[in-house]
Amino acid sequence: MLRNCTEPESPQVTVVVEGRAVAAGADESVASVLMRVFGVEYRSSAIDGSARAPYCMIGACFECLAQVDGIPNRQGCLVTVREGMTIARQNGRVGIE
Ligand code: FES
Repeated sequence: MLRNCTEPESPQVTVVVEGRAVAAGADESVASVLMRVFGVEYRSSAIDGSARAPYCMIGACFECLAQVDGIPNRQGCLVTVREGMTIARQNGRVGIE
């Protein structure tokens, strides 16, 4: 049976992506959720604002940066979702306050 690739496999958790409740697989990465919600090029470069997309999915390229629970510059491919996690795209340069 074909599975709808926009829906995660069970078991599921609910994360909050830029204020919107989104179902995610319990073992899904933040990068995977962001690609599913916004498309592959979900962030932009801190250098020139060009569209960027996760590349390696193993923690080597840093092309998957995202804000997780308010903390910027997290490697989305290395962070597994959990119930209630807040996730946001990271566009351009983001400072640490
Ligand atoms: S996709 Fe390469 S570090 Fe995350």
